[in-house]
Amino acid sequence: MKTLTVALGERSYPIHVGRGLLDRGELLLPFLTQPRAVIVSNSTVAPLYLARLADALRGVGVEVAEIVLPDGEQFKDWQTLNTIFDALLQRRSERSTTLVALGGGVVGDITGFAAACFQRGMPLIQVPTTLLAQVDSSVGGKTAINHPLGKNMIGAFHQPKLVLADTDTLRTLPDRELHAGLSEVIKYGLIRDLPFFEWLEENLESLLSRESPALAEAICRSCENKAEVVAADERESGERALLNLGHTFGHAIETGVGYGEWLHGEAIAAGTMMAAQLSAQLGWLASADVDRVERLLRRASLPVRGPTLDVERYLELMYNDKKVQGGHLRLVLLQRIGQAVLTDAAPLPEVRRAIAGRSVNA
Ligand code: NAD
Ligand code: GLY
Repeated sequence: MKTLTVALGERSYPIHVGRGLLDRGELLLPFLTQPRAVIVSNSTVAPLYLARLADALRGVGVEVAEIVLPDGEQFKDWQTLNTIFDALLQRRSERSTTLVALGGGVVGDITGFAAACFQRGMPLIQVPTTLLAQVDSSVGGKTAINHPLGKNMIGAFHQPKLVLADTDTLRTLPDRELHAGLSEVIKYGLIRDLPFFEWLEENLESLLSRESPALAEAICRSCENKAEVVAADERESGERALLNLGHTFGHAIETGVGYGEWLHGEAIAAGTMMAAQLSAQLGWLASADVDRVERLLRRASLPVRGPTLDVERYLELMYNDKKVQGGHLRLVLLQRIGQAVLTDAAPLPEVRRAIAGRSVNA
């Protein structure tokens, strides 16, 4: 097991990465304020892993309740959130009961938001089971649900007490989901870590064939990057926005085609290509580097073109982005591979050209 730390003063917390961690209740116990926990999972992950985690907690004397949500991005909404509150109230959960999110980013985000709101805030532990959640969504305290008009629009910052990433859970992950997770892994190389990008170019096949040492390395290096950024800028007043490379375009894709149609990581991959293309149009990124980004995303079986949405529809959705300030679109673009910048300098005609050039029939 390797342990990293998200350094946030008295709210600092560890990220444990390793094999077989689901069975180790003693790793969670020190982070529980009272020996009661409610595990929230979904209808796909619960049959695979819920009993193991619950048994591990009961084995160290913790009273455990379970909430199982429907599976899917389309359920990351008010109605499903309310079912968590219903269950917590029916079970007389207290402010110091700990919520444990067991699943991918959808379960993590909605459970995190429930923990932020219930009785004005209860402790949260993240137990991510997708690659995407292990490298990104479980770390950093962003929690949210979607709104029909915009992705992750309703939410709160609520840091977990602990992140427990059991890499063995990735064995049951469908290929498409593994690929989607690689999109966020590649993101860290692109925005701030050229050596990691080069490592990914070297080791992608090992990741695709799920070799444990390669997966552990990719997860740890991703979490190191994310932990550094979050420690420097928890509430996204600056540097943290760079973690949103491809997201303004990608969130527009997810909302535009309907939640759950494109996976989050797939939308981010196509959005990353739009950002790379725009960066090249502005004279920042060499066109050879745009090709290099595209090659790596393609090798990871990720889409490098957006879906058939009208360019104006893209723009309409992009103006709902949380980075819009004073009515101005702000985008994360690339100055080179390994260096990103948040900018409002892209003229709208260039943004339109990048979307049209990197989407199907736009
Ligand atoms: P997901 O949560 O929908 O999980 C993907 C699928 O895999 C689901 O069907 C799930 O049930 C299944 N699954 C999960 N673990 C499994 C396992 N071990 N074996 C088999 N199946 C498994 O999707 P995701 O990609 O994990 O997360 C995407 C979400 O994360 C989006 O809503 C996105 O907005 C959010 N996100 C949040 C942050 C953040 O900082 N909070 C960052 C990135 C993404
Ligand atoms: N996934 C973007 C962030 O955590 O800031």
